Amino acid sequence: MAAPWPAGFPRVPDDDWVGRPPEELALTYDTVREHGWYRNLDPTVESLVGALASGDILLDYSGGTGILAERLLARLPDAEIGTLIVDASPKFLRVALDKLGEDERVAFRLLRYLKDARRLQTVQEAVDELLVERGFDAIASTNAIHLYYDLDETLRSWREALRPGGGAFVQSGNIGVPELPEGAWIIDETVAAIDAAATEIVRTDDRYEAYRAGLDDTERRERYAELRRKFFLPVQPLPYYVSAFERAGFVVRSVEHRVIDAGRDDWREFLSAYHEGVLGWVGGSERIEGQPPTEEAVADRLRLLRESVDRVFPEPSFPAVWTYIEAD
Ligand SMILES: C[S@@+](CC[C@H](N)C(=O)[O-])C[C@H]1O[C@@H](n2cnc3c(N)ncnc32)[C@H](O)[C@@H]1O
Repeated sequence: MAAPWPAGFPRVPDDDWVGRPPEELALTYDTVREHGWYRNLDPTVESLVGALASGDILLDYSGGTGILAERLLARLPDAEIGTLIVDASPKFLRVALDKLGEDERVAFRLLRYLKDARRLQTVQEAVDELLVERGFDAIASTNAIHLYYDLDETLRSWREALRPGGGAFVQSGNIGVPELPEGAWIIDETVAAIDAAATEIVRTDDRYEAYRAGLDDTERRERYAELRRKFFLPVQPLPYYVSAFERAGFVVRSVEHRVIDAGRDDWREFLSAYHEGVLGWVGGSERIEGQPPTEEAVADRLRLLRESVDRVFPEPSFPAVWTYIEAD
């Protein structure tokens, strides 16, 4: 399948991460593609199908392990559309490369962290000049914008990277919604509820007696709450994002909220991969204590996580709200 890359553009860069083997946490993340709640990508795929034509190039910003790209390209098997996946994580990109490296329509670039400037590279810095000069016909960002600590700078670089008429297609389940439907969740806010349930269980269930004393150490609790906020960032309200798009020179064309059912078992499995962030205080985290938790403590933590999720979600699924923003 031909792709519209500029002549001489290498789809796979000559970078150190390309030669390393895929790692476990990124491979585990990639299993979310089998989770029902990853239907959250479907509306974005459909918007992109409507917006892109053969010859176009999409920038899949924070494309991660390539789940959006694989769904879009499967949906458009005959379209000659290029998708450049850029991501801040070489480990996620490595998994994307494994899955999509053979497809001529997909290219990969790493956004490196610039230590001195204390920021990530912009698109213009990370992507080859000849492609930056050509520009992108669309930019997608799924399940990621809530992680951008330099949002203004990122959106400005997107605006500059788009060709005239090109649009940004963004979605996240971690944007504060003005009127959250009854019973619905912002997905990362489940983590605080699970932490509260775990605290309750530890206080009352003697299987977890060893972890009870730590509950009254407020300073320790705060250190672990801070760790949790590093894994699962505090949710910002919708106007925070809309105004940032406008400051960057975008016109926001549409904002939609959709309720997506998340399977309790899928969500539990997902959170188990991040158990250090969710319930690090059970057995301790190496980042805080200077030494890793024992295997026994991690086993307790994982069992407690399971029991806490089941306490918060007695039903097999729960509704969560995703927000979709389109701007050009
Ligand atoms: C939850 S994953 C979503 C990946 C993919 N877009 C998807 O929907 O499956 C979030 C992605 O954002 C990337 N990321 C995290 N912080 C970022 C930042 N500050 N700027 C750009 N990308 C970032 C991560 O490396 C990761 O691949």
